[in-house]
Amino acid sequence: MWNERFAEPDFTYGKEPNDFLASLNLSEFEGQVMCLAEGQGRNAVYLAGLGFEVTAVDLSDVGLARTQELAAERGVEVHTLQADLGIFTLEAASVDGVVMIFGHTPRHIRAHIHREIIKGLKPGGFFVLEGYRKEQIAYKTGGPSVDGMLYSLEELLEDFGESMEWRLAQNQEREVVEGAYHNGLAAVVQLFGTKR
Ligand SMILES: C[S@@+](CC[C@H](N)C(=O)[O-])C[C@H]1O[C@@H](n2cnc3c(N)ncnc32)[C@H](O)[C@@H]1O
Repeated sequence: MWNERFAEPDFTYGKEPNDFLASLNLSEFEGQVMCLAEGQGRNAVYLAGLGFEVTAVDLSDVGLARTQELAAERGVEVHTLQADLGIFTLEAASVDGVVMIFGHTPRHIRAHIHREIIKGLKPGGFFVLEGYRKEQIAYKTGGPSVDGMLYSLEELLEDFGESMEWRLAQNQEREVVEGAYHNGLAAVVQLFGTKR
């Protein structure tokens, strides 16, 4: 499904970064950032432009090819890695930041990847997440239509436990206008924090 969607001529979620990510001041951070479920690379390319060494991880090889296309267009370098988040692992304390935007997976994969993020972040490293929450089903403006694929703030806070110091951990209702498939008033959850 993702390969078909990402082969469409237009960039599915646009070429500009996610609004929530772009709203954050990341100037105190540097180093290696992993963008998980990164699709066609709009966030990875943005972060590379800020000076981070970025790896975009996704299951879709077509998405990763489009990531390289966008990186070349913007004159930045992004590493790409084709991987299934269900079995993806991060080396302990190896990365300075993790970004996961609209990365919706079934619960067992979500739980696994959250454990890997906690393990893989260096102390002080940052984590940014925005995704649709369960209430989004009624909005019909994008995202999965299956409850089990959607986030809840409570579940996220439970998964990350005491490992993170949150600067923002909130439910929001906002206009998401990020490509043809994410278009309109939406129920999202947003996290921005650092590893303790
Ligand atoms: C809605 S898109 C978001 C893309 C990107 N983060 C953005 O904001 O533009 C969801 C992405 O998750 C990826 N994905 C879904 N399940 C995955 C899995 N198990 N492992 C790796 N990537 C996955 C899809 O290939 C797709 O690129």
